[in-house]
Amino acid sequence: MLELSDTTIGLCYLVASVLFILSLKGLSSAKTSNAGSLYGIIGMAIAVGATVFSPSVLSYTEILAALVAGGFVGTVIALRIDMTALPQLMAGFHSLVGLAAVFVAAAAFSNPEPFGIGSIGNIHTGSLVEMSLGIAIGAVTFTGSIIAFGKLQGFISGKPVTYPLQHPLNALLGAAMVGLIVSFAMTGSETTLVAITAIALLLGILLIIPIGGADMPVIVSMLNSYSGWAAAGIGFTLNNHLLIITGALVGSSGAILSYIMCKGMNRSFINVLLGGFGGDDAAASAGGSSSGEQKPHKAGSAEDAAFILQNAESVIIVPGYGMAVAQAQHALREMTDVLRESGTKVRFAIHPVAGRMPGHMNVLLAEANVPYEDVLELEDINRDFPTTDVAFVIGANDVTNPLAKTDPASPIYGMPILDVENAKTVLFVKRSLSPGYAGVDNEVFYRENTMMLFGDAKKMCEDIIKAVEG
Ligand code: TAP
Repeated sequence: MLELSDTTIGLCYLVASVLFILSLKGLSSAKTSNAGSLYGIIGMAIAVGATVFSPSVLSYTEILAALVAGGFVGTVIALRIDMTALPQLMAGFHSLVGLAAVFVAAAAFSNPEPFGIGSIGNIHTGSLVEMSLGIAIGAVTFTGSIIAFGKLQGFISGKPVTYPLQHPLNALLGAAMVGLIVSFAMTGSETTLVAITAIALLLGILLIIPIGGADMPVIVSMLNSYSGWAAAGIGFTLNNHLLIITGALVGSSGAILSYIMCKGMNRSFINVLLGGFGGDDAAASAGGSSSGEQKPHKAGSAEDAAFILQNAESVIIVPGYGMAVAQAQHALREMTDVLRESGTKVRFAIHPVAGRMPGHMNVLLAEANVPYEDVLELEDINRDFPTTDVAFVIGANDVTNPLAKTDPASPIYGMPILDVENAKTVLFVKRSLSPGYAGVDNEVFYRENTMMLFGDAKKMCEDIIKAVEG
């Protein structure tokens, strides 16, 4: 079997690291994201190849079995997964990274010689610190990601679970863990390592259960960051520079993304971490009115919408999660083409957390060949609603809810929104008056200048095209 020298492996790792950095850079814009993905794939192929052909590999049987089994499961999941389920898939994968960090650290502790970190009962202090940090971050990531997966998939309630003395209890557990890590670094005691693992597993659950509703996106990207730091921790234990670099890249980019999303949601990162936001009053405010009666609203047909759109000089389209569910992006693009032919100015407004993953709407619109220059971010287009004839809201809800500005008790309070209600006419395409992800009724449905277009987003766009052309 081919065996690479240490120098060649080091060089391969360097090239892979550069490709990972280029990949991150490419993925930061829709225009360059394909190139970004390609850099990442090539970098990962080089990294895996260099590792597999390193002289320290003693047997290929287990490696091949793991590659085939993991590759098969990963391929099947990737082929089957709906794009709308990507956040929970990410949470599920993060849990595996956390678990891997725990297993590697446990393996290094019980058999330190092959890792070059000392002998049983006499492991180097630095390695004990790395090991305990790797286990702690990995265990928090593991259980935290499982809870996030359960909430996003609907296996457990998406509402925040709060209880008395929640924050003091978390702080106490955090302090106990720090104390145990210090003690472990001094004694190398197995019991202490087990205690660190148990506390970290519990802390992962307790940190994520208070998070709910609209704050889940921030938590998914934060867990992404944790999984990166856990991988970097494994890199230290294995003395693998590429793993340290890659883990640090994932950890820091996840942290930056969490920060950007917190800014987009107008949240303090610390507040989100300490929990309890989102979804509290969901049941009370969901589904029209609190008494269960439907509030008065205006409903229209595709023909009505076609008439209004044809007579508009300017239209801003606000896509949301429902457009993704209905896969309406192609029909929507065709609808905009038809409107443009009759001289209407059409643009798209994207909210930072529209849909169920960062950049969700941008990806779908790019797939439907909507020109990038027509797709504008919230801060660049919000001021244009008052001078716009029609806001065409398709499958979006929370991101347009003005309660975010006015009701401090609302779970979305403080989140910036797209001010669609300021347009002359608002058309809402959705199937019912049901609330969105955060479970909050949207008062724009009942405004004088709003017309509800009830139906599936894709079908509605197709019917509007027919009506315009007819
Ligand atoms: P939502 O507030 O979730 O509203 C989506 C709307 O789409 C629903 O009210 C639903 O109403 C409608 N819908 C569903 N299927 C449809 C279909 N086939 N045709 C037409 N309409 C359909 O979505 P949003 O405005 O995009 O806001 C996103 C929310 O998700 C925010 O609260 C955000 O915090 C949260 N979140 C975001 C992310 C990221 S990173 N973007 C991740 C997790 C959670 P009907 O049932 O009446 O049709």
